[in-house]
Amino acid sequence: MKALILYSTRDGQTQKIASALAETIRQQQPCDVLNIQDAAVPDWTQYDRVLIGASIRYGHFQPVVETFVKQHLPALQQRTSGFFSVNLTARKPEKRSPETNAYTRKFLLQSPWQPDCCAVFAGALYYPRYRWFDRVMIQLIMRMTGGETDATKEVEYTDWQQVSRFAHEFAQLPGKS
Ligand SMILES: Cc1cc2nc3c(=O)[nH]c(=O)nc-3n(C[C@H](O)[C@H](O)[C@H](O)COP(=O)(O)O)c2cc1C
Repeated sequence: MKALILYSTRDGQTQKIASALAETIRQQQPCDVLNIQDAAVPDWTQYDRVLIGASIRYGHFQPVVETFVKQHLPALQQRTSGFFSVNLTARKPEKRSPETNAYTRKFLLQSPWQPDCCAVFAGALYYPRYRWFDRVMIQLIMRMTGGETDATKEVEYTDWQQVSRFAHEFAQLPGKS
């Protein structure tokens, strides 16, 4: 059996994290990585564990994540599963756990799916790649929260050791039969 990682991304950081997780998980078992938007109906018979990862924009995960969870709830519940969120609030270590990261806590409180493990990863800040409105908005948020405000900068806050630890934790969870 294989593991499946589904990701929802806007600028690619969650995909990058999903690929890094897959590399580590593949030390234990085969692992497929798919954009959740292209995975309307995964062939669940191939997979015994599943991870879903999603990034935050303006306070929200992409709606496709919630829709997918609702549509595939039995398949998710029958498998060993995990969830990870990616956002810039998590650049602060004290906002980097499922309990202390407001977006993640809210998602888990509202979700009918309760994953077996969960992580929050800091994302990336790519000012030069954003369109004008987004750049100004992010700059404003960064000014208010004591972050990087130089709009020429690209900063990756992701802690790759944390990503690797989470992959090991997920791969070592007991299976569900
Ligand atoms: C337009 C925009 C809005 C964002 N809104 C938030 C936000 O509300 N809260 C937050 O913590 N991070 C926010 N972020 C940061 C993203 O979550 C972060 O850049 C992440 O790495 C994006 O992952 P992705 O490339 O997989 O979409 C925002 C980023 C952009 C570009």
